[in-house]
Amino acid sequence: MFQNDRPIGVLDSGVGGLTVVRQLQRLLPGEDIVYFGDSANVPYGNRSEDEIFLLTMKMLRFLEQKQVKCVAVACNTISTLVERLRPECPFPLISIVEAGADFVAREKLRRVGLIATEFTVKTGAYDARIHAQLPDCEIVAKGSPNLAALIDKGDFNQSAINEEITENVDVILAKAPVEDLILGCTHFPIVAENFRACFPRLRLIDPAEQQADAVKNLLVYRKLSNPQTRGALTIHTSGDPAVYEAVAKRLELFGPESCEVASL
Ligand code: DGL
Repeated sequence: MFQNDRPIGVLDSGVGGLTVVRQLQRLLPGEDIVYFGDSANVPYGNRSEDEIFLLTMKMLRFLEQKQVKCVAVACNTISTLVERLRPECPFPLISIVEAGADFVAREKLRRVGLIATEFTVKTGAYDARIHAQLPDCEIVAKGSPNLAALIDKGDFNQSAINEEITENVDVILAKAPVEDLILGCTHFPIVAENFRACFPRLRLIDPAEQQADAVKNLLVYRKLSNPQTRGALTIHTSGDPAVYEAVAKRLELFGPESCEVASL
């Protein structure tokens, strides 16, 4: 297989990374994508660093066997460990946290809200990357312990989702009048409508857009783009494939060509 024909790998603790697939398909329609979502072990955001590292290494080995040319680490929680993961991989890893933080810096935002998993917030990964470029930016962060797992169930009409959004964003707004909010967990853009209904005046930042740009830049720079016009999406999950089919439909993805259970 030529390097260019190899697929892009995308991994996430669950269905959330399909929001990254959406942006990749928009920007790089010719690329084949192999996705792994570890729904059997979601939420990662309530686990220890070592647990997250070991679970992620299993996903990376799975994707390595699929001969990926790079991996978009769609999960923010996992991306906080990217420096520890990079030396373990023979292919480049593109971090969603780095991409999202770089966007805030480029936009020169004076103040920004961040809603993410508790793990992501505790690591301070967004803060460190933003402050390295924009030291005066005020970052008001809140970790949600429940939202990712609620979304991973695939039932988007639960009132619990709006309650969890309201409770957490209210904490941010009580600290500072932010106008921009980073959806710092890939699961959250799946319920962007709920965020908009609860907080219509907030501008939502979905770092998946910037991560897709970063993947494109890498492929162009390394001359690894796939010349075909329409790529295939293959989904593997340790959870329930029906939820992935439903989310793929909700996000209006092309495909998946196949969606199956895989154990790590
Ligand atoms: N999708 C993951 C993220 O972007 C989090 C979900 C989880 O806690 O597993 O952070």
